[in-house]
Amino acid sequence: MKIYAHRGSSGTHPENTIAAFLDASKLPIHGIEFDVHMTKDGELVIIHDEKIDRTSNGKGYVKDMTLAELRNYDFGSWFSPQFKGEHIPTLYEVLDIFSETSHHLNIELKSDVIDYQGMTEKVLDLVGNLNLDTRVVISSFNLDAIRTVKELAPHIETGALFMKPLKDPLEYVRNIPTDALHIKVRSALRPSMRQLFNEGVIVRVFTINTAKYLSALKEVGVDAIFTDYPEKLYVYMKNHMN
Ligand code: G3P
Ligand code: MG
Repeated sequence: MKIYAHRGSSGTHPENTIAAFLDASKLPIHGIEFDVHMTKDGELVIIHDEKIDRTSNGKGYVKDMTLAELRNYDFGSWFSPQFKGEHIPTLYEVLDIFSETSHHLNIELKSDVIDYQGMTEKVLDLVGNLNLDTRVVISSFNLDAIRTVKELAPHIETGALFMKPLKDPLEYVRNIPTDALHIKVRSALRPSMRQLFNEGVIVRVFTINTAKYLSALKEVGVDAIFTDYPEKLYVYMKNHMN
């Protein structure tokens, strides 16, 4: 079972920062996950929430600030004084960190609350310009964004995100359409999900921070987990699972 560092190494570093991604880039794990929003001046930035309040010393919506304005805030100190001075990264800066590694990159489009006009197209353009088409999976809770990716760039892998268990998961996968499902652990372990594994749909599970469900997830056929503690779970899986 593969490991994705969720928001970088976010259990030990401030999430979605250069520090968290540099740490993850040195690990022998399969991939990295991070979240994209868009600024007032159309720049793609990496942050989980629509607002900067929780993960910086500032307040307000990303959509209402320019990149230059966002750069006035500190995105590390809230986690620990050790990380003072971390800025909000752009998508380009994060992709650049991984230009010399072979990690798979999960770009999550956070357009499910605010429908950032043109964000999907901008992400696809940058991925294409950097020749990363075969190294990314683009995911979202916004299923229209997934459809747009598949229309504009059918060769790019997509992942549909779901919080709740699905009644007929195969029908969902076919209707969206998507290459993978990214779901919660309880959904993955439901008997109704077996049809997905039987059909070879890629299922990735978020967010797994302890060893508790690892064996069960592996047994049902889960392809990968997202974790805030990639190093810890890598060591555990290496020592306890094949
Ligand atoms: O992509 C998996 C996971 O990141 C989805 O939830 O809220 O952590 O972005 P969230
Ligand atoms: Mg995410």
